[in-house]
Amino acid sequence: MSLVITNIGELFTADDELGILHDAALVAEGGRIAWLGPAAQAPAADERLDAGGRAVLPGFVDSHAHLVFAGDRAAEFAARMAGEPYTGGGIRTTVAATRAATDEQLRAAAGRLVAEMRRQGTTTVEIKSGYGLAVEEEARSLRLARELTAETTFLGAHVVPAEYRDRPDEYVALVAGPMLDAAAPYARWVDVFCERGAFDGDQAREILTAGLKAGLGARIHANQLTAGPGVRLAVELGAASADHCTHLSDADVDALAGSPTVATLLPGAEFSTRSPYPDARRLLDAGATVALATDCNPGSSYTSSMPFCVALAVREMRLTPAEAVRAATAGGARALRRDDIGVLRPGARADLIVLDAPSHLHLAYRPGVPLIRTVLHDGVPL
Ligand code: NIG
Ligand code: FE
Repeated sequence: MSLVITNIGELFTADDELGILHDAALVAEGGRIAWLGPAAQAPAADERLDAGGRAVLPGFVDSHAHLVFAGDRAAEFAARMAGEPYTGGGIRTTVAATRAATDEQLRAAAGRLVAEMRRQGTTTVEIKSGYGLAVEEEARSLRLARELTAETTFLGAHVVPAEYRDRPDEYVALVAGPMLDAAAPYARWVDVFCERGAFDGDQAREILTAGLKAGLGARIHANQLTAGPGVRLAVELGAASADHCTHLSDADVDALAGSPTVATLLPGAEFSTRSPYPDARRLLDAGATVALATDCNPGSSYTSSMPFCVALAVREMRLTPAEAVRAATAGGARALRRDDIGVLRPGARADLIVLDAPSHLHLAYRPGVPLIRTVLHDGVPL
């Protein structure tokens, strides 16, 4: 079955060579993009979707989310808005709630968030564990995440759980050993929260190195609250991405600029923790690759909305709307080392969105407005 989308006012390909096309058409067949170009030259297809002069973009690639959890922390958010700082300490509250939940409850909650994301134009999402923090619990979280996405990440090193508070090195050995063994069959990536109060550079290195040896790719929660060693460790280990990048030294920026490690920025976290936003402009100008993601989680960033992150990146992080949309699509794909998503070009997956607007500019220009009209995943409308 083939589908032609006609009457596309603006086709935002997010592809370096193809750029932005006007008065365009696109043909999807077998879940892939078969053709795109000037509307007047569009080949025939079995079905036709009239975009009515609207903008068509790649589906968003949300490369950083924590969706397997129970409960929420709305009161913690309210306290922060009244002046309390974010420390990551609330993670243990969510761990207790998650351990107490059944598979069915966790599956339903995560599925609801993925559906929420889809409605907002996300066609690929990465999902981390990290609220189990025990061997069986982390394996369970990843098994449930796997039901929702192929991009699953083992984050046993989120914080040291309460029962290991006085023996953190034993916990690191557990994560790098038996927990990794149990998690690896369900995971594509390994991640560590490298931060004061969570895991230091040496502990992160030990866990990530073990993960790499087990065949997983690496990513790091780096430099969120302090300018620690996370970013440089990510670059040194060849991690796919360093996530947060809120507090960067010049050496961190240089390291990212000279490497394939993507700087994944999570402005929902700065919004919800009332923190200064990372300087996306500085990273792009230095030559680093930038991605945007939601960091959807019940503590630091309980948003599932990539359009919201795009708007924040434009307003608060000095990206142009086009740069922000590219970071939310092609950038996310780079952060997941994928070349089949995040761009519209022949051969790529037919994951795309039709906006209820004539151009991508409206995503930042009309913040908070539900502009996602149609979502196609593998060429099939959702
Ligand atoms: O990416 N910083 C570490 N992990 C999450 C927050 C998790 C939580 O607060 O529950 C983050 O911001
Ligand atoms: Fe996170």
